[in-house]
Amino acid sequence: MKIINKAEIVNLLEQEGIISNPLGFRHSNGLLKKDMNKKINEIAGFCEQILKIINKYNKKKEIVFLECSCGKSYLSFVLSYIFEKEFNTKPFFFGVDTNDELIRRCEKIRADLDYENMIFKHGRTIDFNTDKKVDVVIALHACNTATDEAIAKGIEVGARYIMVVPCCQGQLRSQLKDHHPLTTVTQFGLLRSKFADILTDALRSQFLLGNGYYVELLEIVPPKLTPKNMLISARKTKNTSKRSLEGYHQLNNIFNTNFSLQDYLSEQPLNDDQACAC
Ligand SMILES: C[S@@+](CC[C@H](N)C(=O)[O-])C[C@H]1O[C@@H](n2cnc3c(N)ncnc32)[C@H](O)[C@@H]1O
Repeated sequence: MKIINKAEIVNLLEQEGIISNPLGFRHSNGLLKKDMNKKINEIAGFCEQILKIINKYNKKKEIVFLECSCGKSYLSFVLSYIFEKEFNTKPFFFGVDTNDELIRRCEKIRADLDYENMIFKHGRTIDFNTDKKVDVVIALHACNTATDEAIAKGIEVGARYIMVVPCCQGQLRSQLKDHHPLTTVTQFGLLRSKFADILTDALRSQFLLGNGYYVELLEIVPPKLTPKNMLISARKTKNTSKRSLEGYHQLNNIFNTNFSLQDYLSEQPLNDDQACAC
C-alpha cells in the first residue's frame, strides 16, 4: 500500500530513521524530539495535500517543485523520499531561502542522502530564476510577505499548482484602523489582528483567482495544533476569458487597504499561450 495520507506520513516520519535522522527529528539516542511533533504533523498534513494533487499528474514527466522560504527544506526532503520509495519517481526540487546558513545545511543533507534531484539557492523568492519549467510552487510558513513572493513567483513562472500555508502577515493590521465599514469590529486590537489575517488570505485568494487559478482553502492540521494551519491551494485553469483582478481591487477598496501582492507582479492579464493545457 502506498503511503499517501497524513497518518501514514506521520508514522513514516516517526519510524523511518533514513529520513528523520538527517532532518534532525531525533536525539542522538534515537528518540524522537518532543518539540518536533508539531512540525512533523504540519509536514505530513501539507505533504498529504500535495500527494493528492500529484496523484492526478502524469508521473512519466519530471515534476519540478519550487519550495519557497524552504528553511531546512523538510517538505522537499520528505516528498523526495516518499516519491522515490512509494511511487518510484524522482521529481526535481528547488529550494530558496534568504538564510545562507540554512541553505548550506540543506546542501549538506542533500549530499549525505545522495539526492541529485535537488538544488538549493540562497536569496529572495522573488529573485529566483531557473531555465526549468516549475510545475508546483510550495511554501510552508514563509514569514510575512515571503508568502506573497511565493504566490507572485508561482504566477510569474506559470506554475500549474501554487500551494502555500502562510505564516504571520502584519501588513494590514495597522491599515485597518479607520475609513472602512467594519471599524466597529476592528477598533478592538485582538479582533483587528484576526480580521487582518482573514482579509490578507482573502486578498491572496482573490489575486490567484484573478490570475486564472482555481482556489481552495483547507486546514492541514487541526487549529489546536497551530492557528497557522490554512493551506491556500491554487490550480491553474484553462479558462482565461474571465480573468480579472476586480475581486481583489474591490476588497482592497472596501477596506481602504493597500495590499502589496500586485507590487511583485505586473498586472498584465495572462494570455492564452500561458494557459495550462491540463
Ligand atoms: C518560519 S521559517 C519557515 C521555514 C520552513 N519553510 C519550515 O516550515 O520549517 C521562514 C523562512 O523564510 C525565510 N525567508 C524570509 N523571507 C524570505 C524571502 N523573501 N525569500 C525567501 N526566504 C525568505 C527565512 O529565512 C526562514 O527560513
